[in-house]
Amino acid sequence: MPYLMGIDIGTTGTRAAIVSPEGRVIGAATGAHKPMRMEKPGWAEQDPEDWWQATVTATTGALGAAGLKGSDIAAVGLSGQMHGVVLLDKAHTVLRPSLIWCDQRSQAQCDWITSRVGRNRLIQWVSNPALTGFSAPKLLWIRDHEPATFERAAQFLLPKDFVRFRLTGEFATEVSDASGTLLFDVTHRRWSREMLGALQIDAGLLPRVYESPEITGNITREAALLTGLAAGTPVVGGAGDQAASAVGNGVVLPGLTSATLGSSGVIFAYTEVPRLDPRGRIHTFCHAVPGKWHVMGVTQGAGLSLRWFRDFFGGIENWYAAQVGADSYDLLVCEAEQAPPGSGGLLFLPYLMGERTPHLDPQARGMWFGLTAAHTRAHMVRSILEGVAFSLRDSIEIFKGLEIPVEQIRLSGGGSRNFTWREIQADVYGKDVVTLKTSEGSAFGAALLAGAGAKIYSSVQEASRQAVHEQETMAPRAENVALYNRLYRVYRNLYPAVKDLAHELAALATEHRAP
Ligand code: XUL
Repeated sequence: MPYLMGIDIGTTGTRAAIVSPEGRVIGAATGAHKPMRMEKPGWAEQDPEDWWQATVTATTGALGAAGLKGSDIAAVGLSGQMHGVVLLDKAHTVLRPSLIWCDQRSQAQCDWITSRVGRNRLIQWVSNPALTGFSAPKLLWIRDHEPATFERAAQFLLPKDFVRFRLTGEFATEVSDASGTLLFDVTHRRWSREMLGALQIDAGLLPRVYESPEITGNITREAALLTGLAAGTPVVGGAGDQAASAVGNGVVLPGLTSATLGSSGVIFAYTEVPRLDPRGRIHTFCHAVPGKWHVMGVTQGAGLSLRWFRDFFGGIENWYAAQVGADSYDLLVCEAEQAPPGSGGLLFLPYLMGERTPHLDPQARGMWFGLTAAHTRAHMVRSILEGVAFSLRDSIEIFKGLEIPVEQIRLSGGGSRNFTWREIQADVYGKDVVTLKTSEGSAFGAALLAGAGAKIYSSVQEASRQAVHEQETMAPRAENVALYNRLYRVYRNLYPAVKDLAHELAALATEHRAP
């Protein structure tokens, strides 16, 4: 039987999953990444070489776990963290660490882009406003601050496309990830000549763009030796992590919506045509389904908030988890279950890396609001889970305002694996939430795209029909919905009320190089 491999270059690690055509995960493995470097507040960098090493660990590990040989894999699909900037010189050497998706240093470049191009023309040319998360402002930051490095750049690649280059020797990307660069004409699915001209970026830096299921190259002999894959195996375009995860969740038809809780949190909806928010609060990108689009709202610090709490305040859980082989996140959530819905009136704003939807504000800062001496650590952990769900509800509210239907929400990512976090999401969104039989997320979606490219499925929709199966539907509980509706009103008014103070504090922290 031909099997499919999806490789997802995430933030904390790279995951490879081997999938059968009917959607069973036969083997999977992860290669961990070094923690991102955050030299200054809002900066975030990783080494592309680290992604490649993790890819080698993940692919060999997944083949070993499945008991398969490279020649059993019919095709490979790639997915990955979006928006990161990798620059290579003429000799294909990485010029500097990658500024990754959550790096927020490029506000001045965003302002420059907006004043040079104009807000309306930006939407006309690339369907989105200039945001620090996107790639073009990061490229311009390097040009402004490290001109000697920029001068030497011969190729720009997104994170998964760097791994593609190492696997196939080809410089290629695909429409969904290209959409997050701010250099891509999302409506016409091609690089925007207008935008490149206005920003004076040489088109020669950019990789060739494909649709997601198209074959972009084949595994080289050199990559085969390292990864265990067979030389000549086709590698399809794949997708940015969110579009790939949507394919894995079956969000490939009108009316379907997903919530993915990884490091970031995303509410994602399929659209037949590009749908634009005039205020630019949600992203309008090409979908991994050829000729289709999607909208998504992004919370920068979703799983990242819980990870932050675990890393810095979860000493006991981390120690105990290591002793008994448990998961420290599960232990933390057990503690959260001791606190009641609503966390006794404690609200958490998860803006630890600034925020995109709905504030579009890299200087937004996280906070706990409503603390009293009666609150315990359990309330604090629960309020993190609830705060992340409230911040995703902000995106759902925007979708509703744009008349994008949200009927049922399919959950994926780490946050979908936990019962309590699922329950909180159903109650905060006030919608049925559905889990699927596989929770492999983006790597699974990338494998399905590989199957479409290898003609194992006739289309991406057909891949989802054959391989994506619902597992459980959880309905919201009326009394909690009423409580969360009231809390959400406070939540949504909280950041606007403190925004100016948050900016003042952010400026002060930058001046004093606070951690
Ligand atoms: C999407 C986004 C995140 C990252 C990391 O716009 O920034 O999904 O790709 O997961």
